[in-house]
Amino acid sequence: MVNVTINGKQVAVPENTTILEAARQAGIDIPHLCYLKKLNEIGACRVCCVEIEGERNLVPSCNNPVQEGMVIHTNSPRARRTRKINVELILSQHDCHCATCQRSGNCHLQTMANDLGILDNPYPRDLVTGVRALWPRDFPLYRDTNKCIKCMRCIQVCDKVQGVNVWDLSGTGSRTRVDVSRNRRIKESDCVLCGQCIIHCPTGALRERSDTEKAFAAIEDPDRITVVQIAPAVRTAWGESLGLPPEKATVNRMAAALRALGFDYVFDTSFSADLTIMEEGTEFIRRFTAGETKDLPMFTSCCPGWVRYLKGHCPELTGCLSTAKSPQQMFGAVIKNYFAKKLGVAPEKIFSVSIMPCVAKKAECALPTMHTEAGPDVDLALTTRELVRMLRAEHIHPETLEEEAFDSLLGPYSGAGVIFGATGGVMEAALRSAYFLVNGENPPPDAFKAVRGKADGTEGWTEAEFDLGGAAVRTAVVSGLGNTRRLLEAVRAGRAHYDFVEVMACPGGCAGGGGQPQSKDDEERAGVRGQVLYAIDKGSALRFSHENPAIQALYREALGEPGSETAEEWLHTDHFGWQMPGAAQG
Ligand code: SF4
Ligand code: SF4
Ligand code: SF4
Ligand code: FES
Repeated sequence: MVNVTINGKQVAVPENTTILEAARQAGIDIPHLCYLKKLNEIGACRVCCVEIEGERNLVPSCNNPVQEGMVIHTNSPRARRTRKINVELILSQHDCHCATCQRSGNCHLQTMANDLGILDNPYPRDLVTGVRALWPRDFPLYRDTNKCIKCMRCIQVCDKVQGVNVWDLSGTGSRTRVDVSRNRRIKESDCVLCGQCIIHCPTGALRERSDTEKAFAAIEDPDRITVVQIAPAVRTAWGESLGLPPEKATVNRMAAALRALGFDYVFDTSFSADLTIMEEGTEFIRRFTAGETKDLPMFTSCCPGWVRYLKGHCPELTGCLSTAKSPQQMFGAVIKNYFAKKLGVAPEKIFSVSIMPCVAKKAECALPTMHTEAGPDVDLALTTRELVRMLRAEHIHPETLEEEAFDSLLGPYSGAGVIFGATGGVMEAALRSAYFLVNGENPPPDAFKAVRGKADGTEGWTEAEFDLGGAAVRTAVVSGLGNTRRLLEAVRAGRAHYDFVEVMACPGGCAGGGGQPQSKDDEERAGVRGQVLYAIDKGSALRFSHENPAIQALYREALGEPGSETAEEWLHTDHFGWQMPGAAQG
């Protein structure tokens, strides 16, 4: 252990602990901007500088380890003055229009400047202008170069966690800035739209394309019927940035809030997660029994970030993807083809919106392959953050609303559908129903819990082997694209063999999705959110997708059986029907 004194407090910490972490352990918070534990410890912003007795210069606390006997002052007049100057210098290259910035109120830089009492800036303003400041407004990921503080967190997350390497530094000296790597434009890049760079950006420099006005316009249009679906993972996070305690942020209160916004019908995507299981589970059994998974596994296809990654980085494996559409798209197809008939209206009258924990869903619903004769499955995908903004815009205070049930026709869902939002959930749900399809009876509901993934997104993946009708099925569950790349390498090199693999692009699965609320203190929330979903599953009367009565009715009345011609038309897709822009460079 190393003994140090911080602000007069004696602290003993393990060797190699940074000053910043040592202070944290002593309950002392040192302001910081660029630091991201284990990912970005480069000392770029110098906001975390502290004074050490006997040292001439101040040192960044985020990347300097403690040494025996150090006497550290985090808030000495010199440290405070230097911190203020460093933030003023950052602000001189920053577009400080907080009133029109979606990050206002939850921005690390804004908080820091306010806390330091910066009311004026002595340094001349130096902003990027002209073409270098332009960014396509129609791409699902938006970047404002004048709100970038060059902390490089996005570079590190995209590179080290996701292994996609979209961002890089360009220019030199004071002209250095963060831009798309290899001189590409974002639309030509292999960005998978996982949104993890957005989640970790400390300012408003990165965000999703804002589509809330389109949703408001559809709600206001008297000729449109608006239908909204909410993904399983949204219920675990929507209350966070509204300051709602978990007992208030229930899924039924969210249903009430969506009705208060003016949506005509409110449904739960967990319903179509059950439908996905019926189709994907049946497809897996067919492929497995036909020996198609002997060499390469079947991959789940419900994460559009993963589908983009596979098509961009290893397009030769496209055929290994399940052809089942994601729950978002399946729900959309059922709304336009089945629900419209039930309502007795033309499908074009329906405007179908989804609330997703994900940025890639915006690109998925726009794919040319994601529509049927009845039109596009989903007209608009919004993130959890956009839902929160819509509620704020309308001054809806969900805690004052009574809980309401979802609309009934496509309402029921099983616990298996809910766990789709956590890593391993799709695999577990699929195995529950695959067991039933093979054996004609249900397994104990928790029989496959060994597949639950690494919710904290740490390195590696989870593997498990199960007996299915006398045959061994080898499964793997992975989240985070860096982990996925390593799994693919192991499979291709013959070091690992699986029949069925679940992949989620975001660490921890959709619970940690790139469209979820950003944490002001950089807390990883996927694990906590995932536990909420598993608790809902555990408490559900219905634990198996195939027992969902609304799913059974849908097959009876419209689809026939899983894999039928109608099911193929509505619920499956051709992954070869579009190209990833970065595929050639991947
Ligand atoms: S990024 Fe932060 S400081 Fe900059 S305009 Fe937005 S809220 Fe204000
Ligand atoms: S875009 Fe955000 S995360 Fe990336 S360098 Fe700029 S401020 Fe940092
Ligand atoms: S969205 Fe994902 S893939 Fe795209 S730049 Fe950000 S981290 Fe990289
Ligand atoms: S947080 Fe330490 S230098 Fe940026």
